[in-house]
Amino acid sequence: MNHSAMAKVSGLLLRKVSPQASRFSRPAYMGWMTVHPMPAREQSTLASGDAKEEKPIQVPKTGSENGEQKAIVSYWGVPPANLTKEDGSPWKWHCFRPWETYKADISIDVEKHHKPVKFMDKFAYWTVQALKIPTHMFFQRKHMCHAMLLETVAAVPGMVGGMLLHCQSPRRFEQSGGWIKALLEEAENERMHLMTFIELAKPQWYERAIVFAVQGVFFNAYFLTYLASPKVAHRITGYLEEEAVRSYTEFLKDLDNGSFENVPAPAIAIDYWRLPAESTLRDVVEVIRADEAHHRDVNHYASDIQCQGHQFKDVPAPLGYH
Ligand SMILES: [Fe+2]
Ligand SMILES: [Fe+2]
Repeated sequence: MNHSAMAKVSGLLLRKVSPQASRFSRPAYMGWMTVHPMPAREQSTLASGDAKEEKPIQVPKTGSENGEQKAIVSYWGVPPANLTKEDGSPWKWHCFRPWETYKADISIDVEKHHKPVKFMDKFAYWTVQALKIPTHMFFQRKHMCHAMLLETVAAVPGMVGGMLLHCQSPRRFEQSGGWIKALLEEAENERMHLMTFIELAKPQWYERAIVFAVQGVFFNAYFLTYLASPKVAHRITGYLEEEAVRSYTEFLKDLDNGSFENVPAPAIAIDYWRLPAESTLRDVVEVIRADEAHHRDVNHYASDIQCQGHQFKDVPAPLGYH
């Protein structure tokens, strides 16, 4: 088949596929959101064989240095969704979509603690306590820097666990019980915490260097720990999350006593956690602390499942648990 014939066939296929591309299931709470996918036919310059009718895809922002918009010329038929908020204003976040937003459950018990009784639990607990010492010595009450480092580390366990379970599922020819998705959700949630903090403070070069080194070491150490024993790895993460809850409680105390300025909440946080427009940093830290408490519960639960001789595939994962 020559090039022109192939282009015609792809054009026909795209025209068939395009209407499907704009249909996807949405939760009920998304009724307010509108999606305006551009028909594939209007995006292509090559696929239909009729170049005069085709227009290149226009994306709202390209991140170019001078701020000018650039067109993407493509014949692949991938529809750039133009989303709008409830009030009709454009949805400005590419890193998350309206159906990924939620209201955090801040009624969760932030004092809960898994008492280390067995050797494995004590090992996990004291590993985290040992990691805590240099972190607290370095950051003291510099909450924003501490939070940024914490979140770069916290984004690792869910991704490593999710990745290893993802590889395990096809290797063993068995379902995951939803745990792959649950752990990846956790990793994404942690990354959104970081994206929120970097709206408020820009890390210095030496903080970026620390993150680079810490992430490199922690990723590999956690990967090997998870390979050796998922129940130990999840217990360590459970205790890490307990420490995260504690450090955000300290952050809240300093916001309340005025030693840290309670600035307005960044727009990304207002949209992600569906916060009122007049929310402040305190509201943001409170919902992030609630998230950490949920991660604590999920990871201790995951460890308990394995400690009690069950397998993830047989226990439904807490999907969407916030
Ligand atoms: Fe976090
Ligand atoms: Fe967390």
